Amino acid sequence: MKKEFLDLRRQPIANKFLKEDEISDEFFFDLKVVFDEDTKLVSMKDFVKPELMFNEDYKYNTSLSTPMVNHFKSVAQMLTEEFQPVNVMEIGSNDGPFIRHFDPETSVCVEPCGNFAEVTDDMGYKTYADFWNKELSQKIKSECGYMDLIYSANCICHIQDLDECFAAVKNILSENGVFVFEDPSLLRMLERGSYDQIYDEHAHIFSVTALNNILINNGLTIFRVDNLSVHGGSNRIYVARNRPVEFSVAENKQREYDFGINNFQTYEIFAERVRKSKKDLVELLTKLKGEGKRVVSIGATSKSTTVFNYCDIGESLIECITDTTPDKQGLLAPGSHIPVVDRESVNLNDYDYAFLGAWNFKDVIANKEREFVENGGKFITHVPEVMVFS
Ligand code: TMP
Repeated sequence: MKKEFLDLRRQPIANKFLKEDEISDEFFFDLKVVFDEDTKLVSMKDFVKPELMFNEDYKYNTSLSTPMVNHFKSVAQMLTEEFQPVNVMEIGSNDGPFIRHFDPETSVCVEPCGNFAEVTDDMGYKTYADFWNKELSQKIKSECGYMDLIYSANCICHIQDLDECFAAVKNILSENGVFVFEDPSLLRMLERGSYDQIYDEHAHIFSVTALNNILINNGLTIFRVDNLSVHGGSNRIYVARNRPVEFSVAENKQREYDFGINNFQTYEIFAERVRKSKKDLVELLTKLKGEGKRVVSIGATSKSTTVFNYCDIGESLIECITDTTPDKQGLLAPGSHIPVVDRESVNLNDYDYAFLGAWNFKDVIANKEREFVENGGKFITHVPEVMVFS
């Protein structure tokens, strides 16, 4: 039985940056969050149609993020050394920062966003511009054979029907193959109060416990878990048909159990913390406005879409958002319609405060923006709680 615990109100497509004349047609939906008492899975109550989110207009080029490019290079090296796969497939290959470390002759990409599918296709990789499901799995198996390594980063949590997703993986995974995927961690979200991990694309926020329950039902087993710092705290889950289960699996499940992720009350406490976070952030920004302070935001992230729309924050409280992604610049942020500008076009010293929309890159940003701090600028974050720091 699914029980609702959080209402993040009316939200737009988190990554759909807009032109002025697109405002009147903007799509909104109600973002409510539920806990499944049976599987322990946390999901959105009502999913958004995948085609509305993942299309040729998708604005997240992973290869423009140096930390993520480095991350994928080291994952690719590590997986190659340990598992020595021949056939490799990536689900949600974006613009290719992971797959580029593998031989195009024996590697396959799955990517529904046409703009990115074209990029990996041009790089020489056989790319299926489609959503991952059983039908596609069968098609790829008949054209390319079984896969020894299936990798997916920040994508499996987008897939609404997990039973179908895992059955499709099992169908094409070679006998000794491994399926490795990484997504934001529910435990880290609950610990940090980072409710902005929840937005349209994240149909689910995974715990190891819930994944284990669902994978076992589909004839697959988690044999290892790595805890990662990327995207504000993620887990890398290693899955196979039948490999010895390592200690990290029980260790992660125990930590989740100790935190109370199996109890509905834990989610009610989290929801209360989220409501307080909203109150604190709005109060702070309103106070600063009253004092005539100027506030900018750094990083036009999907996460900040959730925050700005849940907290009703618009241009009157945050003047603009800087972002390094050219495709987002010159557009308006989803729902809040705060202008997104090139970081280089803004003198940060004109502002008193910078909200960290990309709080997961806090250290990178604080390091880059030392001059802002030296000139008296301060940062605002809402994770783990609303605070000002320099
Ligand atoms: P993410 O949190 O979903 O990875 O998105 C990060 C966004 O923040 C992406 O649009 C790039 C942007 N960004 C900046 O604008 N400045 C920075 O210094 C960093 C690290 C990211």
